Amino acid sequence: MKSPIPDYLRQVVENARPADSGEVAGYIEVLAKADASKMAVALATVDGKMYSAGDDEVEFSIQSISKAFVYALAIQDTGLPQVLEKVGVEPSGDAFNKLSLQRSTNRPMNPMINAGAIATHSLIVGPNATAEQRVDRILKALSRLAGRQLRVDEAVYEAELKDANRNMGLGYMLKAAGIIDGDPQEAVRGYIRQCSINVNVRDLAMMASTLCNAGVHPVSGEGIIPHQSVRQVLSVMTTCGMYDAAGDWVSNIGIPAKSGVAGGIIGALPGQVGIAVFSPKLDERGNSVRGVIMCEKLSSDMGLHMM
Ligand code: DON
Repeated sequence: MKSPIPDYLRQVVENARPADSGEVAGYIEVLAKADASKMAVALATVDGKMYSAGDDEVEFSIQSISKAFVYALAIQDTGLPQVLEKVGVEPSGDAFNKLSLQRSTNRPMNPMINAGAIATHSLIVGPNATAEQRVDRILKALSRLAGRQLRVDEAVYEAELKDANRNMGLGYMLKAAGIIDGDPQEAVRGYIRQCSINVNVRDLAMMASTLCNAGVHPVSGEGIIPHQSVRQVLSVMTTCGMYDAAGDWVSNIGIPAKSGVAGGIIGALPGQVGIAVFSPKLDERGNSVRGVIMCEKLSSDMGLHMM
């Protein structure tokens, strides 16, 4: 029998299409030229089934969605207590590009804001690793999660590096605060490269479904992320993944999630399904406008809210 799910997913896309508000991320030259008409959705279940609709082969840079997976890798490479010494787990209530250091400890509030993600990135491999060594580790891990070889979009990387003053500034502040041990420029370069890895919605849904499946890849059966890290990552995605919209998101949609400025969003509902949506125009908090609408519909139609 033909599955009704692809038809349903096409409806999810068409239902969100009329929402035309928001702006593509203007601060990265290449993203500012993105085709705003592209839209896609994908679902990957914990038993290894994949469904998608819309522009599901269109690639875009992973951007901040990488932060969730790199946090898992940092826990693996450095250990959870050591990571917690450098990066907190509290929502900042502020925009993603603010410094947001905790007063008592000097730590960035959480690993999902840029400051926390730059600090997290610096914990991959070791303090004196080069950007290339760290990105190589990240690229291999993300490719295993996606189930295919991913690549860095050099045009996005170059564009973002050209205008990296703010992130470089965060890097130097983290160094001054004793949070980054190595070279802050190297950490920021690696962080920007990690954000420039290209994916499509099917890759992202597959990556999210491994989080839903306690770190075991639903198709290959390979244990990729230790269970303790999965719990930590999903907890922080729930409280901080959608930045200063995290409260609205959790109450309306109720799924641990992470967004990126290229217009992607992942959702990961433990034991059930990994979700990915894509549409480039963003709201004022940096989350995809149509992406949020698609997730709202999926959550309410399928009863995915955790509560
Ligand atoms: O640091 C930046 O500005 C970007 N590379 C990533 C930011 C991002 O995706 C924020 N998410 N909505």
